[in-house]
Order: sequence, then structure tokens, then C-alpha cells
Amino acid sequence: MSEVTVLAIETSCDETAAAVMRGDALLSSEVASQIPLHALTGGVVPEVASRNHLRALRPVITRTLAAAGVALADIDAFAATCGPGLASSLMIGTSVAKGLAVARRKPYLAINHLEGHLLSPFFGTAEGVRPAVALVVSGGHTLLVEIEAFGKYRLLGQTQDDAAGEAFDKVGKLLGLPYPGGPNVNRIAADGDAMRVDFPRSMLHSDDFDFSFSGLKTAVRYLLPKLGGISLPDVCASFQEAVVDVLVAKTLRASEATGRRVIALSGGVSCNTRLREKFRAASAARGLELLVAEPALCTDNAAMIGYVAALKLAHGETSPLSVDIDPNLRLVA
Ligand code: KG4
Ligand code: ZN
Repeated sequence: MSEVTVLAIETSCDETAAAVMRGDALLSSEVASQIPLHALTGGVVPEVASRNHLRALRPVITRTLAAAGVALADIDAFAATCGPGLASSLMIGTSVAKGLAVARRKPYLAINHLEGHLLSPFFGTAEGVRPAVALVVSGGHTLLVEIEAFGKYRLLGQTQDDAAGEAFDKVGKLLGLPYPGGPNVNRIAADGDAMRVDFPRSMLHSDDFDFSFSGLKTAVRYLLPKLGGISLPDVCASFQEAVVDVLVAKTLRASEATGRRVIALSGGVSCNTRLREKFRAASAARGLELLVAEPALCTDNAAMIGYVAALKLAHGETSPLSVDIDPNLRLVA
């Protein structure tokens, strides 16, 4: 990859993030989390998120440039997430990146947040992006994708209702845990018995690569009034096991069906320790190669946006300034 220096910005939801890439090397990555702010309301209020991006973005960019040891004048291209996400949040990052690109007379790149997650497991690997079956599990999306090469993706399946992370967050809320539910359910599940409650594994045996998690959430809700001797850790562990079982089984089946022997896990839910453990064991048993990014690259960050921007630049791609945000942007058209 050429030694182009890119400043990437990510403001699609509730993290204000910036990163500097030089070629395929990450020079710095900063994330200002809004989690404490949204914990007060038990979820993200779009208006609050966008106002906070506005306040946080400038200092985050300044810190990121300083950590990379570069000045704004050293940046060769400016990239930002253009979707999917919250409109009022996406607007902040893209406006700043476009403004900087115009002021510095440098190219702009509009980046798909989902492509950022999708390719993050390849970041820092010697081979770069390779053919694989990819599972993207975040707060907003649950996708199974066949990667043929950079920019060539085939959607195999997706959730029909709630995303996996959304299910974790809603169940966390039902159980009275702080926002976001995912990491808290994961932490409490460590002391629980995953076999204690036999929660439904929706669509486990369906003849497709789609998912459904809303029935599972409902099952937890109906169980709550009659918990009896079932402890909170047992509920967390049993719920988590049901989610993980379906994600692992369908991904393995997709690997079999496509013949792809590399599995790439990404998105916030891929931080889940039980998910990683089960995927590691299943991949080892079948001789598959498992790629999963370090946790800081799994949740929302700008390094993954910078990585896609660097790949696009290496392929001679930039975006016109007329590219608008798209809150419903898809990975595959
Ligand atoms: O990728 P991400 O940071 O943002 C989106 O693009 O949505 O994912 C956030 C999601 C949240 O639903 C959060 O609860 C979930 O990832 N998450 C986890 C864990 N860490 C984050 N879910 C389960 N176990 C975890 N350890
Ligand atoms: Zn995300």
C-alpha cells in the first residue's frame, strides 16, 4: 500500500472517534465514548449524541493528530463514515471531513460503517483482505457475508428482527443491568450455568443463513416473573449461550456451503468472550482459520474506517463531495 496519510472520522452512533493511518499502518486511534452519558437514559438519544459529537470531535481530532505526530498539513485524504447510523450523528463527522478536504484541497472518502466492521479482522494481517465467510454482529446489524475480495461481498443472510447486540442490550435492560447490556451480560454470565435454562435457538435449523433474536428476548421476559431458584448469572449465561450457539452454527454452515475456510468475526458482539471461545474451539476442530480483531477494533472506532479508506485509495477510489449521508446504507446494494 502507498504511504498516503489518512485522517478518518467515525460518528455514526455514540462514539466520537478519529484515527490516522499511513499506508496500512495505524499511527493513532482515539475514541471518546458517550456510554456514561447514554447510561443515564438507558440508551442513545439521537439529539444528545449529535450535540456531543459536535463538542467532542474537535478535541478528539487534535488528540489523534498529536498522538500520530502529524499536523493537519501532513494529511493526504480525509475520510468519514457516511452510513448506516443516526442521521444527525453521521452529519457531524461527514461535514467536518468534507470541510477539511475542501480547506486543504485533498480528496474525501465516504466510508460504509459496515465495510469498516467487516474488514477489521484483516487489519494488520500480512495477507490483508482474503476470501472468507464473515459474521458482522453489532448493536444494529447481524450479517453473514461471503467476502470474495476487497469490495466484492455477497450477503448470505441477516437478522429478520433484532440484531444480536440489540438482543443483549434489551435483555440487559430487562434484567436491570446498566447500559449497554452486552458487556454486562457477558461479565455476569461468567459465574452462571449456561445449561440452566433451555432458551429457544430461533432459526437454528432453518434452511437459510438468516437469524431471529426477538423470540429469545420475549422468552427471557416471560421467564422473569417465575425465576424461582434461577440466579441472574444463570439467566445471563443461558441467554448468551442461545445467541452464541445460533451464530456459531450458522457461520460454520456458511463456511461449508461456500467452501471458504477463513472465518472473520467483527462488530461489538465479537468482543463476547463466550462467542470467541466457541468460535475458537469450532474452528480448531474443523481446521478453519479464525480471524477476530482485538476488542478495541471490534466496537465502534475510526481505525476500521481509516483501513477501508486506505484500501480504497490504493485502488484509486475517492468520493465526490456530493455523496450524502445514508442512515440506511447497506453493505451490498
Ligand atoms: O459495533 P458496535 O460498537 O456498534 C454498532 O455498530 O452497533 O456494537 C455495539 C454492540 C452493543 O449492542 C453492545 O452491547 C455489544 O456490541 N457488545 C457486546 C459485548 N461488547 C459489546 N455484546 C455481548 N458481549 C460483549 N462482550
Ligand atoms: Zn458499529
